[in-house]
This record gives sequence, structure tokens and C-alpha cells, in this order.
Amino acid sequence: MTKLVFTPYSLGSVELKNRIIMAPLTRMRAPNTIANELMATYYAQRASAGLIISEASQISPQGVGYPATPGIYSAEQVEGWKKVTSAVHAQGGKIFCQLWHVGRISHPDFHGGDAPVAPSAITPMGNAITPTGLQPFVQPRALATEDIAGIIETYRLAAQHALQAGFDGVEIHSANGYLLDQFLRDGTNHRTDNYGGVLANRVRLLLDVTEAVISVCGADKTAVRLSPSGTFNDMRDTNPDALFTYVLAELSAYKLAYVHIVDALESDIRHGAKVVELATLRAAYTGTLMVCGGYDYARAEQVLVAGLAELVAFGQLYIANPDLLERFRVKAELNKADPSSFYGGTAQGYTDYPALLN
Ligand SMILES: Cc1cc2nc3c(=O)[nH]c(=O)nc-3n(C[C@H](O)[C@H](O)[C@H](O)COP(=O)(O)O)c2cc1C
Repeated sequence: MTKLVFTPYSLGSVELKNRIIMAPLTRMRAPNTIANELMATYYAQRASAGLIISEASQISPQGVGYPATPGIYSAEQVEGWKKVTSAVHAQGGKIFCQLWHVGRISHPDFHGGDAPVAPSAITPMGNAITPTGLQPFVQPRALATEDIAGIIETYRLAAQHALQAGFDGVEIHSANGYLLDQFLRDGTNHRTDNYGGVLANRVRLLLDVTEAVISVCGADKTAVRLSPSGTFNDMRDTNPDALFTYVLAELSAYKLAYVHIVDALESDIRHGAKVVELATLRAAYTGTLMVCGGYDYARAEQVLVAGLAELVAFGQLYIANPDLLERFRVKAELNKADPSSFYGGTAQGYTDYPALLN
């Protein structure tokens, strides 16, 4: 019997050949924030995935937090991304652009000495990765209520650029402790305006951004990523169950392409995460769910058969196995990813992982 992972899936106007998805993976190989030929080769190698989600791409200079990550706000960046999307399409693949604003997970060195922005002036524990190495995070500037309309508009423009660059849709990054996640959780959002306090207020920015992106892309080309159990980037919430079931109930109304859930990872458990169960999230959402986080072939098939998700994304396995789909099909051995070449560098540890038929 055909395994569910290999069966096609329709996101509305975007038809996926299979349910094996390449997760968004920052690789820091875009000098000057512009996507390039090397990146086009890397993504094209992975085009047999049902869908590729691009590495996170900053929507504005204010949204950057790491060296050599690509942007999606200038004409040059759009031209750079065209190389990637056309290479993926030439291989019969589909690719969404992940829209990113890091919020407080940045450093003044990226902003001419100005503080990064956040919902509230709460300094994260840990270090920023800056062009001159690791430096402690600083206290961010709390966004004024008047600043928020501008942020929403920046997302709308970025979505427009993503379509111009040839992407098949966009995924709004609201996970892993970046700006939109910072607004969702009460550990990072102490605001007293319409964007803080009760759940309806903390969720407001994500919904405003989602509506702005839908106005450009249409709902069936708009997706949202969430990490309900995530502790990465010093994140916490007093009641993530209540928060994320509320978020999912609200997002259900939009008939999005999908909502992407990052499951609790081992590192989250080690950091004392309050785990929100996938079954709870599934029950709270009426549309297409994608899951990610430590999946292998067997667990992916299980979660699809159980009806807990419709699509499964793979991160580290896709770094090391450009032909992950084919390897799953023939139950081949998998290459192991080398963490020392995850962030920054050259073609080594990027485009040189072997495919079975090389
Ligand atoms: C090198 C690396 C870069 C990542 N970059 C991103 C990113 O840009 N956006 C994002 O949402 N998640 C990012 N993640 C998280 C992955 O998408 C994924 O959720 C995580 O690796 C767990 O899945 P896995 O166990 O299949 O690797 C990154 C993970 C790794 C290892």
C-alpha cells in the first residue's frame, strides 16, 4: 500500500507532489543579504520535497539579527531570490518564502548603534551572533503603538516582493522567539496597549500581519509557523495551552495554506518547557497542519495515519540529504548532518552532501 507520506496534497492553488516538506533552515550564506547561485544550487538539489520552505528572510533592515541572512525587502534581493525560485521550479519543485523579523534577537551593531525593537524592553538571556562574533543581548526598545502599523505594512510589502521573486507562497515566522512570538507570550509582552495583556490583544499583531499578507497572496498561499512548546531565545509563557489553542482557533477562520507547528524538542524539555500536546493543537485547528521537530520516516507516517497532521517537515535530515524523498522511498541509509557547517561558510557542508545517484 502506498504510504501516506508519498501521496500528493493540495494546499488550494498549490499542488504538492508529496507530504515530505523541507523545513526552513537558516544557513547564513547570503553575503550582503542577497540570495545567490550557490543557494539556488542548494535549494534545487532538494526540489523533490513536496514543498520547500526557504530559510528565514528578513522583511526589513530592522528585522535582521544574524550575519549573511537573506532579505526580501529590496529590488536586488528580489532579483537574487529569482535565481532560487526558478532553479527550484525548473526541477518541478515548489517553494514558499519564510518572512522574518527577529525583534529583540538582534544587536545594535546591525542597526548603526540603535537598540533592536520588541514588544517590551525585556533583555533576553544569551548572546547575539554579530559580524564580529558573539555579544550579549542588549535591552530592546519597546515599540510605540504608533510604530505597529509600519511593521504590518513591512510584512505586506515583503509578501509582495516574495510573489515578485517567484515564490509559490509565504510562511509568516511566528515561532522560535522572534518578533511575532515575542508579542504572543506573556514572558516577553508586558504591553498595556491594544497589543498586550489579554489573549485577544497579544494575538492581535499576528492576526493583523496575517490579514496584510493574505491581502497580497490570498489565504491559500499564506501560512503561519508557531512553536507552542518552544523555549529557544529565552521564551516563556504562563499558559501556553490557553494561548496556542486560542491562536489556532483564531487562525482557523482564515483558511490558510497551512499552520506549521514545531513540536517540543529535546532542548525545550531540558529548558523546562510546558509542553503543548499535538493532539490539543490538532483539536483547536480546523485547517491543514504541518508538523516538524525530530521526525524520521516512521514517525512521519505515524503522525499522518493518526490524522494529527497532513504534512511533515524535516530540518536536519534535509541539510544532509538532498534526496531525502528518494532515500525514504528505497529505505536507504541517511547522511548525517555536520553542525560545524550549519551557519555560514562555503559550498562545503552545504551543496556537497551526496545524493544516492551521484
Ligand atoms: C541550521 C538550522 C537552521 C534553522 N533555521 C530556521 C529558520 O530559518 N526558520 C525556522 O522557522 N526554523 C529554523 N530552524 C528550525 C527547523 O526548521 C526545525 O524546526 C528544527 O530543526 C527541528 O526539526 P528537525 O528535528 O527535523 O531538524 C533551523 C534549524 C537548524 C538546525
